This record gives sequence, structure tokens and C-alpha cells, in this order.
Amino acid sequence: MKIAVAGGTGLVGKFAVTAAENRGHEVVSISRKNGIDLTSGEGLVEALGGVDVVIDVTNKTTLSAKAARKFFSTVTNNILSAEAQTGVKHHVALSIVGIDEIDGGYYAGKLEQERTIQKGTIPYTIARSSQFHEFVTQQLQSMPGPIALLPKCLMRPVAAREVGQHLVDLAEGKPLKRTTDLVGPRNEVLADLARRQISFDGLRKLVLEFPLPGVFWKRHGFRRFAWKGRNN
Ligand SMILES: NC(=O)c1ccc[n+]([C@@H]2O[C@H](COP(=O)([O-])OP(=O)(O)OC[C@H]3O[C@@H](n4cnc5c(N)ncnc54)[C@H](OP(=O)(O)O)[C@@H]3O)[C@@H](O)[C@H]2O)c1
Repeated sequence: MKIAVAGGTGLVGKFAVTAAENRGHEVVSISRKNGIDLTSGEGLVEALGGVDVVIDVTNKTTLSAKAARKFFSTVTNNILSAEAQTGVKHHVALSIVGIDEIDGGYYAGKLEQERTIQKGTIPYTIARSSQFHEFVTQQLQSMPGPIALLPKCLMRPVAAREVGQHLVDLAEGKPLKRTTDLVGPRNEVLADLARRQISFDGLRKLVLEFPLPGVFWKRHGFRRFAWKGRNN
């Protein structure tokens, strides 16, 4: 099978590329580093020649709903259009667990991405996962300096490697529209994880928490997991 990974140089993208190669698939990794800017789509039709399945794990780091919607709708439309021209049979996209009803900030872009895929003509599988273990480091690295300000929330982290393998499992199968969410085995408090990571890395950084506003709190706050307790 020939699989294209859009965002193949990113955190989860690298794992998807490796998993697909290890299983003997021919893999095309698409990103700006590899010469294709998906916001313009230039060169994409050529890159998708002979491709059976596209796994989309592109990303834009932003808290602006407007910027997130623009990025994910533009990139998704460009990929879907190139897929239609080249006969790609299956579009697999990675989204995030629990984002329904949170049509704001970064999540607005992910919901827009899901809607764009659902409205399109290419058979698809939307896979949602919880935050990666590596998300904690991504957050800390985005806040250089002595203080890290993190939202007060619970998460069920999953390894990005496992998510990459899961996406290749899905690419090998039939389009499912939506598939079962992939989440880690236990609840963790984001700030606790960050403190443990800082200690493990031997760094000095103070972690402060701020409460999530409104609907974000309802979906990701402590109450959502309260019935299960913190670590079961
Ligand atoms: N992080 C998490 O905890 C988590 C959890 C659940 C789901 N997800 C989803 O997983 C996806 C991947 O996340 P990640 O953390 O692995 O992302 P990442 O490390 O930021 O990687 C993003 C990838 O997208 C590519 N990219 C960005 N802009 C591009 C453009 N204009 N044209 C072509 N390629 C572009 C980047 O390559 P270049 O910079 O070379 O272009 C890179 O390969 C996201 O959609 C995210 O919503 C993430």
C-alpha cells in the first residue's frame, strides 16, 4: 500500500511514517520541510500520485479560533481536492477527544477540520485521541523562562508512538467515518505531569495553574472525571 503522511515530520507524524515503513508500505512524507506547503497545495497532486491512503497529522500551534479554522479548513480542502484528482481511496485524520461543544480557540480549527472531511467526497476515518505524553513537553517548551502557566485540567495521556501505529492500523482498514477514541489508561493532572517532567529534566521552573473558562472547564475540568477519582 502507498501511504502519504501529511505532517510526516511532526511529533506523531514521524511515528506514523516509521510504523508504516516498518510494515512494508511505501511512504510519502509531506510537509514544508519536505517541500510542500499545504496552505497553498502547490505540488500536492504530484506528491499524491499512486497514493492509496492519506493520513493527515498536520498542525498549527495557535489559540486563535480564527487562525485555527483558517489553517485546518484550507489544508483539509487542499488535501481532499488533490485526493479527488489522484484517486486516493481513504482519508484518515487525527482529531482530539472531547472537543464537541468547544467551538473555540484551537479546538475550533479541529472541529472545522472534522466538518470539512465529513462534507467532502473522499471516504474517511476520523480518529480522535487524547493528548500525547509529549504534549506536556510541547507546552513547557512553548513557555521559555522561569514560570509555566498551565490550565487546570485532567487528561488521559497516550504515547504519540501508539497513536502513530493506530493511524496506520486505520489506514490499512476500511473507511469507518468515526472510530473509537484512543485514550491513555489513567487520569493525570496536567500541572502534576509538568512538575514531574521538569524534575526529571533537572530544570528549575515554577508551574502555576489557571482555571479553564466556561465550556472548556465543563469538558476538561475535574468534574468530568470526578466519579473515577484521579488515578484509576
Ligand atoms: N499534541 C497532542 O497532544 C495531540 C493530541 C491529539 C491530537 N493531536 C493532533 O495531532 C496532529 C499532529 O500534532 P503534532 O503535535 O504531532 O504536530 P506537530 O509536531 O506540530 O507537527 C505538525 C506537522 O505539520 C506540518 N505542517 C505544519 N504546517 C504545514 C503546512 N503549512 N504545510 C505542510 N505541512 C505543515 C509540520 O511540518 P513543517 O513544519 O515542516 O511544515 C509537521 O510535520 C494535530 O492535528 C493535533 O491536533 C495532537
